[in-house]
Amino acid sequence: MIGSFRRIPNFLLKLPFRMTAVAYSGNSPSARNQEAETHFGFETVMESEKWRKVHNVFAEVASSYDLMNDAMSLGIHRIWKDILIEKLAPVAGGNKLLDMAGGTGDIAFRYLKYLNNLPFDVDQATNHVTVSDINQNMLDVGQERFAKMNFKLNQSTIDWVCADAEELPFDDNSYTAYTIAFGIRNVTHIEKALSEAHRVLRPGGRFLCLEFSYVTNDYLRWFYDQYSFQVIPPMGQILASQWQPYQYLVESIRKFPKQEAFKTLIEDAGFKCVEYENLTGGVCAIHSGFKL
Ligand SMILES: C[S@@+](CC[C@H](N)C(=O)[O-])C[C@H]1O[C@@H](n2cnc3c(N)ncnc32)[C@H](O)[C@@H]1O
Repeated sequence: MIGSFRRIPNFLLKLPFRMTAVAYSGNSPSARNQEAETHFGFETVMESEKWRKVHNVFAEVASSYDLMNDAMSLGIHRIWKDILIEKLAPVAGGNKLLDMAGGTGDIAFRYLKYLNNLPFDVDQATNHVTVSDINQNMLDVGQERFAKMNFKLNQSTIDWVCADAEELPFDDNSYTAYTIAFGIRNVTHIEKALSEAHRVLRPGGRFLCLEFSYVTNDYLRWFYDQYSFQVIPPMGQILASQWQPYQYLVESIRKFPKQEAFKTLIEDAGFKCVEYENLTGGVCAIHSGFKL
């Protein structure tokens, strides 16, 4: 299934936006005029334009993504991701994880490592992880990383599917867990992505979302804002020769719903027992819930 759901052919992505929208949606001119606006960072854009802009951001940063993650977070993103997997705590066998917006595979690799390191023999053949992302460039980097790793499992334990979180090419009730780390903030219709997450999970399945959130302490928030806006884009320019994707990163974080509002969206999608935990004073939060 590698790369089988690349939604828009490359030649269409290169066309000016309006032409892409016509070819893609088939809407009449009046329908296009009525298209809703949304935000891309602090910029107001048409909804269909956001998809393309987000796609371009991650296509541009794919090769430097892992380096920049370590640099920007001083390596702390590794701890946040470890906490996510410890919360999920997969048991010995029969696990089927969908790691959505999985990018270069960080969550999937931690998940497999966790299963590999369980203190008893695990029938790895019964475990599976699907890494899915809208951006083939990010998945390509992930596959290269995976090829260099030494897991006690065969290649069929992981697959890589290029797909949109809002329109998943997976059957109903097919996964035991769904994770999304630093991905949902980029999705145009968060409600649709949550509803798709709910659809593909089996009853009893776990939803876990790691995302930047709202820093609750005033002093820490002031410091974090200075760091975000004054340091991160210049750092992107110096280390990856890219300013704009990192400007988008810090802006998109500010546009994302705060902890309680996001919790309500998850509940509205049908999840039960929804709760969240703030990490590093709310720089990030892990929201979790169950499909019952
Ligand atoms: C900040 S990266 C996170 C990657 C990885 N989860 C991690 O924690 O390192 C965000 C990812 O979301 C993906 N993405 C953005 N919009 C998406 C969508 N609508 N559907 C699926 N993936 C999407 C991007 O391509 C990108 O790989």
